[in-house]
Amino acid sequence: MRFFKHLLTSFLIVSCFVSNAQNKIVLSVQTDKPIADIQPTMWGIFFEDINMGADGGIYAELVKNRSFEFIKPLMGWKIDQQPFKEGAITVLAKQGVNLPNPRFLQVKTNNAIKGNLSITNEGFRGMGIKNGLAYDFSLHYRQPKTGVKLHIELINTAKEIIGSTILIPNETGTEWHKQAIRFKATATALKAQLRIWFEGSGTIDLDMISLFPTDTWKNRPGGMRADMIQLLADMKPGFIRFPGGCIVEGFDLANRYQWKKTIGPIEERELKINRWNIEFAHRPTPDYFQTFGLGFFEYFQLAEDIGAEPLPIISCGMACQFNSAELAPLDQIDPFVQDALDLIEFANGKITSKWGKIRNDMGHPAPFNLKMLGVGNENWGPQYLERLAVFQKAIKGKYPQIKIVNSSGTDPDGARFDSLNVALRKMNADFIDEHYYRKPEWFLQNANRYDHYPRNGSKIFAGEYAAQSDKTVSVNNKNTWLTALSEAAFMTGLERNAAVVQLASYAPLFAHIDAWQWSPDLIWVNNLQSYGTTDYYVQKLFATNKGHKELSIMQNNAVVSGQDSLFAAASIDEITQELIVKLVNVSNVKKSINISLDGSKSFASQGKLLQLQNDNLQQTNSFEQPFLISPKESAIEIGTKNIDCALSPYSFSIIRIKILAKKQ
Ligand code: AHR
Repeated sequence: MRFFKHLLTSFLIVSCFVSNAQNKIVLSVQTDKPIADIQPTMWGIFFEDINMGADGGIYAELVKNRSFEFIKPLMGWKIDQQPFKEGAITVLAKQGVNLPNPRFLQVKTNNAIKGNLSITNEGFRGMGIKNGLAYDFSLHYRQPKTGVKLHIELINTAKEIIGSTILIPNETGTEWHKQAIRFKATATALKAQLRIWFEGSGTIDLDMISLFPTDTWKNRPGGMRADMIQLLADMKPGFIRFPGGCIVEGFDLANRYQWKKTIGPIEERELKINRWNIEFAHRPTPDYFQTFGLGFFEYFQLAEDIGAEPLPIISCGMACQFNSAELAPLDQIDPFVQDALDLIEFANGKITSKWGKIRNDMGHPAPFNLKMLGVGNENWGPQYLERLAVFQKAIKGKYPQIKIVNSSGTDPDGARFDSLNVALRKMNADFIDEHYYRKPEWFLQNANRYDHYPRNGSKIFAGEYAAQSDKTVSVNNKNTWLTALSEAAFMTGLERNAAVVQLASYAPLFAHIDAWQWSPDLIWVNNLQSYGTTDYYVQKLFATNKGHKELSIMQNNAVVSGQDSLFAAASIDEITQELIVKLVNVSNVKKSINISLDGSKSFASQGKLLQLQNDNLQQTNSFEQPFLISPKESAIEIGTKNIDCALSPYSFSIIRIKILAKKQ
């Protein structure tokens, strides 16, 4: 049986790629009869702290384990002592009830000079340091009296000092103080370290030892890595989903994402182990924790910065069903529901409300305009539906305008999906979140998935998808031109069904080359560089060429979804007054196309062609060749009422043509 299944799959791929070079393919676009509105949210992004996406990723903090709260308090730190003296450096904890980050380091020195006593932080697989850039070093400290000087040094892999300064803590007493100093790096290094050596005599307590570059996104102190955020901003995403992903659910309920613990002063945000630290035995990441320096306030701010609608997902009282599957009993679900209601108040409430005031105190009096909220990530079964009903009643009761995103489980088919799909529609679910991590051929075969979905009722959020060159969670998955091309073909099917699909996002988003757990990913980074994959450029082209109204594009009265190895969608951009046609050729031969532009509109005689193309389906982008597969722009001649063009083999093309104003 399995053998036949394999044969069938191979046949379908091959038939999709069959060549048909001789005949001109005739398509027609109905240019003045829009079928549906394309929502501004249509193409968005999915952010999760996986693959060191947040700590070690967009959160630009360079010091790992800055507050000594990892399970092993000195993980990431190395102590150098000459001669060794017992008790010179110890880990202590602040005394108090439920303190979020109690541990600190106590350093005792006696006439210390260079070479006697130092601590060195290794960063997140090293620290990316840029020549000439200023860095902000800061720490929290307390000392009974002055006497200890801190020498701050950046060290490259050759053990050379590539930036240094001296910090003299000047406050004394039993209270904690924060002190900061800025200094410049004198060389570039991909994997530098931060050394602090101590001079003088005394006892000093240290906590929150931090180093940030100053070239953060919007130059915000303690902010985000600008190159990574720029790649997101360039996509002009319609929404940003955060903070995941499985991380929302946690491996047990205690490990779930709790947004209230991620706001306010960063030293009061309670650190948690990252669930991806231990998820895959074949990709262990023992130093992966969430400091929440990047928390819900920062996510909302990021959404605003990049013009994306915020789409937070919260725990529904169910831990990851692949892990502990721990449930909050139904009669104890209220605090989870209250978290959802309070989140809406935090985002949208007046500054006189409890949570709106906190937003205001954090520097954002204006509301964040939250319109959508997800309840649960990949949750399923009757337990999910029972809990969801409680959330739905409470949220709609208090905030009827908020749209709820509902889970349809982990897969886009099968008994689990089918039963949820029926039940959610009965509950009048606003959005059903579908996930597909599948082979490229699945994407080609399913480009017509939504053609027969009901136009009324629940809308679709294609919340997580990515073509897998090998198989789901395989370490061999690559971001090839084949994965990207098959996604482009599939995405024409999403856009052709704009009346049904209103949000879509590729997942996961980021991966650090030295610290990833899951592949493929949209954007790969090291400590200094980031690049968009082939899949990134497909996403970016769709998002930046979306249009506002869907038009019909047909071949012999049928939607263009795989016949002659072609996939197509068309739309109108009402602001720029352009017709946009998207064409994906998944065959290995050039396709001659004639598109007749039906209707009363007239068009300019020249248009713009944006194209992604490569003859090698296994080709990938890389740090060395980040733009190998990236959009190329050229001019294209347009006839009075038609477009004649040749589509290169293995290509994704977008044609934009100005609509001429009608003569008065
Ligand atoms: O994107 C990686 C993971 O895939 C997400 O955390 C989860 O929702 C899905 O299973």
